[in-house]
Amino acid sequence: MNASKLRFLVSSFRFLVAVNQKLETTNLKLLFLRVLCVLCASALRSCSLHAAGAADEPVTFNKHVAPIIFANCTGCHRDGEVAPFALNNYADAKSHAKQIARVTKSRFMPPWKAEPGYGDFHDARRLSDQQIATITKWVEQGSIEGNAADLPPAPQFKDGWSLGEPDLILKMPEAYTVPAEGKDVYRCFVLPMDIPEDKYVAAVEYRPSNRKVVHHALFFLDTTGAARRKDAQDPEPGYKSFAGPGIIPTGGLGGWAPGAFARRLSDDAGRKMNKGSDFVLQIHFHPSGKPEKEQSSVGIYFTKKTPEKVVQGFALRSRKIDIPPGEKNYKVSDTYVTPIDTQLLGITPHAHLICREMKAEATLPDGKIQPLIWIKDWDFNWQDQYLYEKPLKLPKGTKLSMEFTYDNSAENIRNPSNPPKRVTWGEQTEDEMAILFLQFVPERASDAGLMRQGMLKKLLQSLSGEGIGALSGKRGEMLKEMMNAFDKDGDGKLSDEEKAELVQKLQSAGQ
Ligand code: HEC
Repeated sequence: MNASKLRFLVSSFRFLVAVNQKLETTNLKLLFLRVLCVLCASALRSCSLHAAGAADEPVTFNKHVAPIIFANCTGCHRDGEVAPFALNNYADAKSHAKQIARVTKSRFMPPWKAEPGYGDFHDARRLSDQQIATITKWVEQGSIEGNAADLPPAPQFKDGWSLGEPDLILKMPEAYTVPAEGKDVYRCFVLPMDIPEDKYVAAVEYRPSNRKVVHHALFFLDTTGAARRKDAQDPEPGYKSFAGPGIIPTGGLGGWAPGAFARRLSDDAGRKMNKGSDFVLQIHFHPSGKPEKEQSSVGIYFTKKTPEKVVQGFALRSRKIDIPPGEKNYKVSDTYVTPIDTQLLGITPHAHLICREMKAEATLPDGKIQPLIWIKDWDFNWQDQYLYEKPLKLPKGTKLSMEFTYDNSAENIRNPSNPPKRVTWGEQTEDEMAILFLQFVPERASDAGLMRQGMLKKLLQSLSGEGIGALSGKRGEMLKEMMNAFDKDGDGKLSDEEKAELVQKLQSAGQ
């Protein structure tokens, strides 16, 4: 529809509404409304923004649907990838046509949880309403193949390192065998690096050896040896860990999900990798029906020189989680005011199974609200690392806030307990968490120290009042591991002096 036609329609519409207001009987009003409906329907039919082929030509696979499937589905839906069947051609799509219409309409596929309009992210796996309408129409019209000449070339997928030969290639020391069936498996593998000096990372590229079973992967760093100790205690390769790396990592390097591309940070930025770090690779495996072996490789690209801007990890979080059984709308929140001018590069929300909704925003010093992310239908299976297309500038004094909502009722199909039971903060599958990881760079490199100080203050605040001894069982294990070393008098609490020492140590570790 062109602009003049649109103007004509809008003015006719206004005219009709005005006339309608003057009409006296309900019957006449109804008649007018009917005329309006007919007008609107015909306007939509001639509108080129609507589903392809809507006017006269039928929707065909070759012309309309293949470009959508090739660009948005085949990356995961092809032989040897994690999706359960291939979508390489007409025959594949036709045999799953109804299912495809259903899962695209419900937005179950492609898997992408971030609401549009709440942060613009790289590699968003999301169909437009128009693309969904096209697929629906194609199926309604009988899933026609169409003209062979219309078919676009099948997509090509590159094997090998997409960013060129890495500076450092790591490989899982031995293969892990994923069982044929049963629940999904979460395991961490320790990849020693032996880097002789501190380095800065520009990009990490992850390559699973067997994409059929690798659902996603997260990358952590550990200089403390805690991950090695866990590995040593577990007889199989790596160690079991559901929610995170099961240790307090000393750094993070992002993650991978099918369809994500390795990306270099801008030339003046890097992520710190301390001398002596181990690379801890957490993989979420999805059993394929037969036993499968996996031995992943990781390619690391260092910055050419010491970068001006070092990426800082930081998290908003709450451990105050205690959800009664049956509670459908349980909320936790956290806020933080940034002490310096920063740029936000990425955001990674994390919770377990019964979390339903996550919302985060930044209130800028002038009062303007900058949405950071909104996930309305959290799914633990698709926890992505969201990278902003353009870093968000957050001036000093910006208030960051998050709110997570949990549904602990029996109606929540993702509730692992039936009947529901009380859920508290913890590491286990049936426990819950509320964390919003943020990746920042300070606008001025000289402010980095202030930023770290602010973060540590917040971390300590969240711990104060709660002696380490009060953290029972699994809940306290990670914290104990980190803090025991500083609790010299062994009273289960950190004195101000001990806290100060911890802060100093953490600061120099993060330098
Ligand atoms: C990032 C990888 C990925 C992408 C992209 C993707 N899928 Fe999937 N798809 C999967 C996985 C994995 C499953 C298995 C279910 C699960 O793990 O959530 C699946 C399952 C399905 C199913 C079966 C659903 C069911 O109810 O059992 C259909 C149909 C489907 N996908 C269609 C599509 C279509 C159509 C697209 C593109 C518009 C698409 N997928 C894009 C990974 C992907």
